Amino acid sequence: MKVIVTDNFEASCRIAAEQIASVIRSKPDARLGLATGSTAQGVYPYLVAANRAGELDFSRVSTINLDEYVGLAPDHPQSYRRFMDEHLFDRINIDKANTIVAKGTGDIEANVKSFREALAAKPIDVQLLGIGVDGHVGFNEPGEVLYDGAHVEELDESTIDANARFFATRSEVPTKAISMGMGDILRAKKLILLATGESKAAAMRGLLLNEELDVQNPATLVKTHPDATVIIDCALAEKIGYQE
Ligand code: GLP
Repeated sequence: MKVIVTDNFEASCRIAAEQIASVIRSKPDARLGLATGSTAQGVYPYLVAANRAGELDFSRVSTINLDEYVGLAPDHPQSYRRFMDEHLFDRINIDKANTIVAKGTGDIEANVKSFREALAAKPIDVQLLGIGVDGHVGFNEPGEVLYDGAHVEELDESTIDANARFFATRSEVPTKAISMGMGDILRAKKLILLATGESKAAAMRGLLLNEELDVQNPATLVKTHPDATVIIDCALAEKIGYQE
């Protein structure tokens, strides 16, 4: 696992975007695994700017997202489909037909099945990851077991608390999500995990400061990946006592 410590969050986002751009330049029909959340949100403006400057072409790129809330329609303001449209897809020259976000409404079992089929259809060349305060990646929450494939996950109370900031009231936060499994994530050819902020310190200590693989901190499985890059800013590195 490669660890990059940057001066600040902006620099982390720029480096993550450069790495994604370099995958696209070497493989114009790359499949990107994408993430939502305020951390991933910082990366997308750099991809949009490169596309608008004519330096990065998305016309043959396809994407698949980590997860989607159960119960939110694709056009709901807090759905991950809407997030991706607003922050990336509607701003670049991608064919929206080539962008996959699991559907969180309707027949959920059928939606999980078609999400699984979509995952099996083509490998992910690079997967962008954030990390939850409890160490979740995608929506793979800590627990007795972790899952290989796409599934419905019950969200932890701490995740609902953390994501309540995006909703008018905490009770509006969905309690379930469709998520790629840990196996799906680890099968991506390249992983880029980005983290910032004190709330991520405990989870990041588990990822960076020991050799344990811990089902209670799913992000620790990223250690096993042959091509994983973790990008943190120096404020977080200092907070957790990580030294290069
Ligand atoms: C969300 C998403 C994750 C994301 C994480 C952190 O719930 N499902 O994919 O990485 O939580 O979000 P943020 O970057 O907003 O802290």
